[in-house]
Amino acid sequence: MARNRLIMAPGPTNIPDEYMEELALEFPHHRTQEFAVLLANLENNLKKIIKLANGEVVIFTSSGSGAMESTVANFFVTGDTVLVIDIGFFGQRYKAMCETFGLHVIHLPYPPGETYQLEDVRAALAAHPEIKAVYVTHHETSTGVLNDLQALGELIKPLDDTLLITDSISGLVIHPFDMDAWGIDAVAGGSQKGFLVPPGLSFVGLSQKALGKIARATTPRFYWDYRQMIELAKKGQTPSTPAINLMKAMLRSSNDLLAQGLESVWQHHYQLRQYLESKMLAMGYTLGVTDEAIRGNVIVPINLQPGMDSLAICRELESEHGIITIYGLGEKMHSMLRIGVIGPLNATDIDQFSDALAKVTKKLYNY
Ligand SMILES: Cc1ncc(COP(=O)(O)O)c(C=O)c1O
Repeated sequence: MARNRLIMAPGPTNIPDEYMEELALEFPHHRTQEFAVLLANLENNLKKIIKLANGEVVIFTSSGSGAMESTVANFFVTGDTVLVIDIGFFGQRYKAMCETFGLHVIHLPYPPGETYQLEDVRAALAAHPEIKAVYVTHHETSTGVLNDLQALGELIKPLDDTLLITDSISGLVIHPFDMDAWGIDAVAGGSQKGFLVPPGLSFVGLSQKALGKIARATTPRFYWDYRQMIELAKKGQTPSTPAINLMKAMLRSSNDLLAQGLESVWQHHYQLRQYLESKMLAMGYTLGVTDEAIRGNVIVPINLQPGMDSLAICRELESEHGIITIYGLGEKMHSMLRIGVIGPLNATDIDQFSDALAKVTKKLYNY
């Protein structure tokens, strides 16, 4: 792959040439049979990737936040109570969305770098049997923590009136995900992370339990309305003009992922993450997530040395070395680097990154 920049960020990633090429080729008109086949094939691939045998997938032309918002807009009566597990920036986004839609939010926040405690969720559900949904971020991209969804599913599956809803925008493809076995009712995904295609497509997987709640919803919705999407998808159509060329690219990438085998994709990212961690530790940095058991494989968050500024380091890496990496989010904006390990990357890229970081910190801080 010819590339001008090395992107080591939590998405968008470097994009393989063949997916970029799909964007430039002729694409079917969205009111044709050829499009209906494209839509059905993409839906089927996404179902295989999220492991959803008996449910629906809806595909939106939007960034991932649109898919998240759709999971707030389609199930509730204004004033319904929901529980939001918040382990960072994207958990707070779900809280803000739920509040925007007039839901009563019970907020369960945890410090950056930590995961949720199952006992807290159990206690909240026992104290508030009126909770209609539990929201949780699968992989929290602001901290690098991967939440255990399976344990939450076991807790929530028996509750007929409570949905388990997850944002797995940066979780999917990179980590195991089993919608049916884990009892996930709605999952939001996006095109620009594990799928290695440009931003602009998002999707939601819906269980039968979630589909059964749509009719009761009274919150306003139009673009995000699942009813129209599902009805029209049965006829191979979408309510509005979708990003057809992105759909073609995502079909190709999802075909490749399934052919490669998801297990080998997870393994690859796990190994890259561990390799980068070992390099950063050897350079004297500490890791943002201390507990190995809850580390995801999208980023390696590192704490910089006192006096270093991550924004200055990112600028220098970009301008002098053609490397894009990302600073912290929230209170760790200046003191953390979030180095991505997703995309078509290998150990040589990690060596290149580490060498460049060493040069930059030598130049800026004599470190
Ligand atoms: C965990 C998570 N949730 C939500 C989003 C928002 O997605 P988008 O920027 O595509 O709207 C992101 C993007 O970085 C993310 O990593």
